[in-house]
Amino acid sequence: MTARDNDTIRFYASEAETYASRGREPAVLQLDNFLERLPAGASILELGCGGGQDSSYMLERGFDVHPTDGTPEIAAEAARRLNHPVSVLLFEDIDAQAQYHGVFANACLLHVPRAALPAIIGNIHTALKPSGIFYASFKAGEAEGRDRFDRFYNYPSAEWLTELYAQFGWRRIEITEMTGSGYDNEPTDWLHVSAEK
Ligand SMILES: C[S@@+](CC[C@H](N)C(=O)[O-])C[C@H]1O[C@@H](n2cnc3c(N)ncnc32)[C@H](O)[C@@H]1O
Repeated sequence: MTARDNDTIRFYASEAETYASRGREPAVLQLDNFLERLPAGASILELGCGGGQDSSYMLERGFDVHPTDGTPEIAAEAARRLNHPVSVLLFEDIDAQAQYHGVFANACLLHVPRAALPAIIGNIHTALKPSGIFYASFKAGEAEGRDRFDRFYNYPSAEWLTELYAQFGWRRIEITEMTGSGYDNEPTDWLHVSAEK
């Protein structure tokens, strides 16, 4: 089972410049909650960084940030905007071991088919140092599907995610539900998940 949805990657590749320059503000509430649990200068892996606004926020605060994205065209846009290296990293290729104090994954693991998500949640656990912090957000729902741009979404429930994280020994699993929107401008129920290794 592949963790990559090719139509989703194609969308981001073809929209890279527009998407990265859409003027998205950093997710300040989620970033501050995440960063306050980390030591000063902590090493952070950002997955699916998009235009790089969240990495920018963390770099400005002195953290040792490793921004990554699985779409090469998006990674190139983010590197240009951040003036900082951005690695091309697909979720399925995460292979770090006890390397990071934190993993930040805003609105990106939501593109992983449900059948492939357990392996990735496990590999993120392995990538963190003891007591490391993991933040991710998902669009809530009951069944997998696509949006009007043909992007794939796993649309989990809070219960489904809690069970999944628990299988890998995550501690202090906290899920906050918030309403908002996305690039499609549709009303969206968001699940903000934080957990500790
Ligand atoms: C909705 S955007 C979110 C971007 C950014 N985190 C933000 O909040 O603005 C999802 C990002 O995930 C990346 N992505 C999608 N599938 C991926 C995969 N299988 N591996 C790595 N990155 C992926 C896309 O290239 C895109 O930049």
